[in-house]
Amino acid sequence: MTELVYTLVQAVHNYGTLAVVASPAVALGFRDRGADLERRLAWTLLLAWGLQAASGAGFAAASYGLKGQFPEVTGVALYSLVVKLVATVAGCALAALLLCARRLSSPRSRTVAWAACLGLAVVALTAAAPLRWYL
Ligand code: HEM
Repeated sequence: MTELVYTLVQAVHNYGTLAVVASPAVALGFRDRGADLERRLAWTLLLAWGLQAASGAGFAAASYGLKGQFPEVTGVALYSLVVKLVATVAGCALAALLLCARRLSSPRSRTVAWAACLGLAVVALTAAAPLRWYL
């Protein structure tokens, strides 16, 4: 039962990872395909960052519910988790900005914002490795 719960949380987290990385990559690759596609990708990205935060918390909730305590996160694992948290907050903010800020109306500023989103996704994905092995 414990393994099944962790597997389900991990599956959700993995699909969130896919969306967090793929949305900005697709937006950058199909820059001239119109505002409609870009808007959909920005929504996908915002929801995907939210999903990562929720499923990330889901790992902790599963540990507490099934084992009666939160995992002990210290040292390298703690730093990695903080990096992921900061990337997630910044990623959510940037995705929201892409959806509603008028200041990001020029194609150049939007390209920079999408590239920054992709950079944050890469940073979070990289931080997942030490979190996994130092936890
Ligand atoms: C608030 C944000 C996040 C939290 C709290 C969080 C938390 C976690 C936790 C607790 C694990 C399990 C570690 C383990 O026991 O092995 C995990 C795994 C993972 N996370 Fe996150 N995460 C967050 C965001 C992200 C983001 C944004 C990405 C990717 C862009 C990501 C990618 C991954 C991957 C790929 C794994 C699996 C690592 C492996 O097993 O090799 N996470 N995350």
